[in-house]
Amino acid sequence: MRIKVVKGYEDMSREAARIIAHQIRSKPSSVLGLATGGTPVGTYRELIRMHKEEGLDFSKVVTFNLDEYYGLAPSHPQSYHYFMFQNLFNHVNIKPENIHIPDGLASDVEVFCRKYEEEIRRHGGIDLQLLGIGRDGHIAFNEPGSSLASRTRLVVLAEETIKDNARFFEREEDVPKFAISMGCGTILEARRILLLAEGIAKADAVAAFIEGPVSAQITASVLQLHPDVTVIVDEKAASKLRRLGYYKRADEMLSSRGQEQRT
Ligand code: F6R
Repeated sequence: MRIKVVKGYEDMSREAARIIAHQIRSKPSSVLGLATGGTPVGTYRELIRMHKEEGLDFSKVVTFNLDEYYGLAPSHPQSYHYFMFQNLFNHVNIKPENIHIPDGLASDVEVFCRKYEEEIRRHGGIDLQLLGIGRDGHIAFNEPGSSLASRTRLVVLAEETIKDNARFFEREEDVPKFAISMGCGTILEARRILLLAEGIAKADAVAAFIEGPVSAQITASVLQLHPDVTVIVDEKAASKLRRLGYYKRADEMLSSRGQEQRT
């Protein structure tokens, strides 16, 4: 795991956008796995700037989002569909047919989830998967107790997640109780993974997934089994890592050799 510690949200967002832009430039038809939530908003803002000012070209890029609330229409302002169009897709030259987001209104959820996985495979798999992390250590909506081999499926949101996400809704009761989410097994198949975490509220989850045991109680810990993970954390989110000094030194030494990643 390559751990990059940065000063704050803006630095995290710029560094993440730089890695994603590098991926798109080296393979214009890249398949990107994308996340929603507060964490990646700055990264998307920076990618939009790169598109407008530096000509970063999304015309061949294909995207798959991690998750969607079950029961919300794409037009619902709190749906992840709406979020993605507002925060990224409306501002870059991505083709609508290349965008994939789980359908929160799917009538046959099992069939939908199977097809979503097939569609990822049909596009050759995900080249770069962007992730945030929940306070309970979840990635996508793989809540504590999710199988580390899980695939795209209907999940029940944890109470902690409902409370955290209530900030985007008028009332806590309005937060959907279910979501469709890629599984840990789906995420592990991405060729490269980029996880972002910012702020003191994420410090316990960050320490647990990097330094704790691989456990279904902290589903992000499954990333310890992936050979190409980059974690970008700000000082606060990194503050509970016991071996922080080593991670910083390793990152600096590898950067000085011009090495982009450590596997
Ligand atoms: C969102 C997702 C979630 C979030 C996580 C952190 O698509 O899959 O796992 O990444 O809940 O959310 P924020 O960034 O709002 O703290």
